Formats: sequence, C-alpha cells, structure tokens
Amino acid sequence: MSFTADRLLLFGATGDLSKRMLLPSLCALDADDLLPAKLQIIGTARSELDDQGFRALAREALETFLPAERRGSLDSFLERLHYQPLDATQQDGFAALADKVGKPEQGLAIFLSTAPSLFEPTIHGLERAGLTGDTVRMCLEKPLGTDLESSRHINDAVASAFPEDRIFRIDHYLGKETVQNLLALRFANILFEPLWNAAHIDHVQITVAETVGLEGRVSFYDDAGALRDMVQNHMLQLLSLVAMEPPSSFDATAVRDEKVKVLRSLRSVGPDETVTGQYRAGAIEGKAVPGYDDELGKDSDTETFVAIKSYIDNWRWKGVPFYLRTGKRLPERVTEIVVQFRKVPHSIFAGKGAKAEPNRLVIGIQPEENITLSLMAKVPGLDRGGIRLRPVPLNIAMQNAFAGKERRIAYERLLLDLIEGDQTLFVRRDEVEAQWDWVDAIRASWVEQGATPKNYTAGSWGPSAAIALAERDGVTWHE
Ligand code: BG6
Repeated sequence: MSFTADRLLLFGATGDLSKRMLLPSLCALDADDLLPAKLQIIGTARSELDDQGFRALAREALETFLPAERRGSLDSFLERLHYQPLDATQQDGFAALADKVGKPEQGLAIFLSTAPSLFEPTIHGLERAGLTGDTVRMCLEKPLGTDLESSRHINDAVASAFPEDRIFRIDHYLGKETVQNLLALRFANILFEPLWNAAHIDHVQITVAETVGLEGRVSFYDDAGALRDMVQNHMLQLLSLVAMEPPSSFDATAVRDEKVKVLRSLRSVGPDETVTGQYRAGAIEGKAVPGYDDELGKDSDTETFVAIKSYIDNWRWKGVPFYLRTGKRLPERVTEIVVQFRKVPHSIFAGKGAKAEPNRLVIGIQPEENITLSLMAKVPGLDRGGIRLRPVPLNIAMQNAFAGKERRIAYERLLLDLIEGDQTLFVRRDEVEAQWDWVDAIRASWVEQGATPKNYTAGSWGPSAAIALAERDGVTWHE
C-alpha cells in the first residue's frame, strides 16, 4: 500500500465537482509543490474532448473557481492534464482508456465522481482493462447508496476488484481543516477530556445550516432529502468525532475503529424525536426566494430540514442527548457544535444576579472557525450583599491565531492523502454501513407514521416543532 501515485484517473472530469473542487484543489497543490513531480492527471467523461479541449475547460474552471494568488503557474499544471472520452456503460471504451493511462511507474489513483449507477460498470470495465492491480487505489465520491442495501451493493461491487485498504470513500467534511481541528482540540489538550462525559456534559447540539436551496440539483436532492444528503454522512461524522473514545494514534485503523463504535452505539430514534420540514417562499438576507415546490416545479414530500434528538448508549454518554439539525434556506450558513456543560453542583453565591449559568463550549466549524468557551465572571463593581455574575466568552478566532496561513479546500487534503495512500480521513465500509443502518431506521419510522414535512418559511430556523423538540427538555438551540 505504500506507494505514491504518479497517475490520477478522474471519472466525471467535466462535471461540477471536478470543475469547482477537484481541478482547483489539484492546481493549488501543484502551486505549492505538493504534487508528485511526475503526476499525470487523466480526465474522462462522456464529452468528446481531446487533451487541448480538456485543458481549455480546466483553465476556465480554474480561472473561475480558484483565486489568482493560489493558481501558481497555470500552464505547467495544465500540462499534467490529459483526456480520454468514455461512456462507462460501454465496456469496449476501457481499452483505449487503459492506453491513455499508460504504465504508471509507481501507482494509479482512480477517483469516481460520477452517478453511483455507473460505479459497477466502471469497475467491471477497469477490471477487464487491467486497471485494478496491486498499485491501484479506488476513491469514491458520495452518495454511496441511498440506503443500507444499495450501499452494500456498491461496496460489494468495489470489493470484488479492490481490497478495503485500497478503497477511499470520501466525506468531504473530513477534509475540512476545521473538522480535523476537532481532533486536535479534544486530543491535544488535557483540559477537556476529564469533563467530556455524561457526568459533566448536559447535552450536545450539532447544527449544519445552509442558506442555499436546490442549486439546480433537482432530481438528486428530491430523491435524497436532508436526512440522506447531510445527516447520514457529514453530521454523523461530526457526531462521531465529538463522541469517540481517544484513539491510540492518529492512524486510519485506530481512528476509524473508534468512530464505528460510536455509530454502533447510537440509539434508534423514537417517533417523537425527529422533526422534518420543507421550506416555503421567504427571504434570505433580505432577498425573496421561492418555496421548495416552486423550485422543484412539482409537489413533493421530501424534507429540506431535519432535527433529531438522539442518544449514544455507552458509558461515556449515558443519558446525554445529542440534538442534530440541518436544513436548506435557513437564515445563515453556519456549522457548529455546542457542548453544554452541567450546572455547578452547589452555588456559594446568593442574591440577585448571582446565578451561575452552566459553561458552554461552542466550536464554530464554518464559515469561520471560532472556539468560544463561556465562563462565569464577577461583574466589576461594589455590589452590596454579594457578587454579581455574568457569562463572558473566552474566544479564539482561528483566523487570527493563525493569521497568514492559507485556508485549504477540503479536497486538497483528501486528494493528497489519496495520492499518498493515507486512509485516516476516508470512510471505512463498516462505518458507512453503520451510518445507513441508523438512518434507514429513521426513514422507516417516518413511513410507518405517515410523517410528512412541516412547512417553514425560507429564512427561518425551521418548523416550530424543531424548537419544541429541544424546548421540551428545557434546551434552547444556540443561535
Ligand atoms: C454536500 C451536499 O455533500 O454538502 C450538499 O450534497 C451540501 O447538499 C454540501 O450543500 C455542503 O457542503 P459544505 O462544504 O458547503 O458545507
């Protein structure tokens, strides 16, 4: 497994992800001299392009999606690019693709950024063309199925040609530096670990709020919905990182073993513990936006918002609720984790204004990375009959703490790890299957109850029932 790929074969090379993320990430890595000197990138898709046509498409994408100061020498990056048209459903095209790839001196990394329905024929084609040998790694972009069964089907097809230690499943949240910083925060500081358990933590909130709506992904999104699009992958990754036991090292097996244990300990969600919503016309940042039905052009029961209350049934988290919520067309783009600590066991302060509010740690993941710990402090002054208390924030803005340090695109980290063969930030088969298992049970309960999403106005924080879900327990969502 320890080889550095000198060929990268990119399926779906003319698609949106490639243009917005993959080509810009590769170009930025090249600009910083992080790509292997001999790396050649072969793009493939259905479009009938040649090398020059692909380079022109790539140039336009890079000029659109990568800031000028990160581009380096565009011409020398573009020289790495090659192209071979291919219809993955037609097996006879793979021989020409293999010719184009040539004979890598060290190894080949393959990135499938196509519809999952093409995964199986692609893998068969690659096998028959001799592109699945010991020095080939396979990387898969989401969605990896729509439920446990279809995900197993994809995993089986991939496993028929590649062993697990050469399969790289992407969850781009794991490539975000701010998400990796969760591990640093928890496991490179002594402060938090002794308090990181049911004895000291009252509850945890995870919010992934987006202002965007469908963004043209009409049929994909309407088939998926918020639960499958965001919770099954990104939110469960955040939850796993927050809740996992300390791994013995920052290595692929150790980290993923611990994450999987969390997923397997997730309690099935009860009928009153989820709320779904769908946005209606409203306004985002003062601009009118249409409702989901209008954007879609038809009626639909797909949820664009979901809130879930869940528990992790293990020693560390016994009885601690984890509240998750995500949605489209919410008032702001924000991803954050709130760790709400318990009250002090006994207050020594009495009188007006002397109530100690519980400490709270807010880990802001995006758009800005801020870590804020609220502490109680004495309000300055000569108050009679005791002291007055007020929460004050201890605030670290990472942007200031690491001023001058480049913000990386999540795919830069992931593509580099793929090329170098480090699986730590990729999702293992048992992990993805445990995620689906939990999510499938939630969907089954919705079907059983005949649940349909509640309306919410675009630009609001979701249906009022989501607020009630937390308030029933005396909890307020952090805003
Ligand atoms: C994708 C989802 O996986 O993540 C999208 O399919 C969502 O619906 C996106 O918008 C959010 O990613 P990020 O990095 O902008 O938080």
